[in-house]
Amino acid sequence: MEQIDWSNLGFGYMKTDCNVRCMYSNGKWGELEVHESEYLSLHMAATSLHYGQESFEGLKAFRGKDGKIRIFRMHDNALRMQDSAAGTLMAQVPVEKFEEAVKKVVKLNERFVPPYESGASLYIRPILFGSGAQVGVRPSDEYIFIVFVTPVGPYFKGGFQTTPFVIMREYDRSAPLGMGKYKVGGNYAASLVAGERAHQLGYSNIFYLDAKEKKYIDECGAANFFGIKDNTYVTPKSTSILPSITNKSLMKLAVDLGLKVEQRSIPVEELATFEEAGACGTAAVISPIQRIDDFDENKSYVFSPDGTPGAICEKLYKKLRGIQYGDEPDTYGWVTVLE
Ligand code: PLP
Ligand code: COI
Repeated sequence: MEQIDWSNLGFGYMKTDCNVRCMYSNGKWGELEVHESEYLSLHMAATSLHYGQESFEGLKAFRGKDGKIRIFRMHDNALRMQDSAAGTLMAQVPVEKFEEAVKKVVKLNERFVPPYESGASLYIRPILFGSGAQVGVRPSDEYIFIVFVTPVGPYFKGGFQTTPFVIMREYDRSAPLGMGKYKVGGNYAASLVAGERAHQLGYSNIFYLDAKEKKYIDECGAANFFGIKDNTYVTPKSTSILPSITNKSLMKLAVDLGLKVEQRSIPVEELATFEEAGACGTAAVISPIQRIDDFDENKSYVFSPDGTPGAICEKLYKKLRGIQYGDEPDTYGWVTVLE
């Protein structure tokens, strides 16, 4: 096997030994299958290709100091994929099947789980999509569920860092009663133009406001937002954001650290009152925010004038990473240690 340079991995795709698949037809799920091929043969009229009947998940496995592999909160990802399936009229993958597939694909690709010291991890990507042929706008009667893995680098190579975001009111990510709360491909297709524009202007991503009134904070690129002030962790309550499993975890850990937690509508002007702010998600855990520039109103909300992450962001980050790598006790039962 070629040598993998664990400490220089990015967030990209690398071929591994195999993926695990399961097919749904005639109203029921089949057995898990192990495939070495990265390709699949798909009907050209599959509903996923035409009508976006598709969803995906993202979670990680970590190798601890003890050599053991820990998978973080896969039960929650299984439930979220069921919600996405319900929201797109797809067959739901039973939780046990989802968990069995995740454990199997990680076990079979054990050699791709990066060593503890590298700070890298194994990214797990489950996908579910309509594979049956339709031309009318109707749900498929056949589905494919695949879980593949790929090793990914530590998000912050040079250490935990802040980045800038930008508010641009000409772009929406999702509608208040739309699909934003589901992890479906269409939401990401809808974000590409805005994301590219933000990158070209030197920002890490777009900071979305609610699509209806453009008054409240929604999402932070493909991540949830949280702000810290007066010893309180504040995060948006909105029907158009994805319920982030990292955010749910941070809310628990914030309480443990003695903070209050508020999940509520956050008016955009309130940004001026936060002492620290962060974007949270599986990829980075916390991506602390340096500043948010309001492009349309020519305003700038600065959280870190010198670019260093806030103390509470750093504490939360270290605590959650510690649980994921097995350095901190798993008091909430978030971790599955692979046998
Ligand atoms: N919001 C969006 C739109 C996302 O794509 C993600 C990434 O999964 C998140 C938030 C963070 O969710 P999680 O913490 O479950 O990874
Ligand atoms: C995250 O894991 O934080 C994400 O934003 C997932 C993204 C790669 C779709």
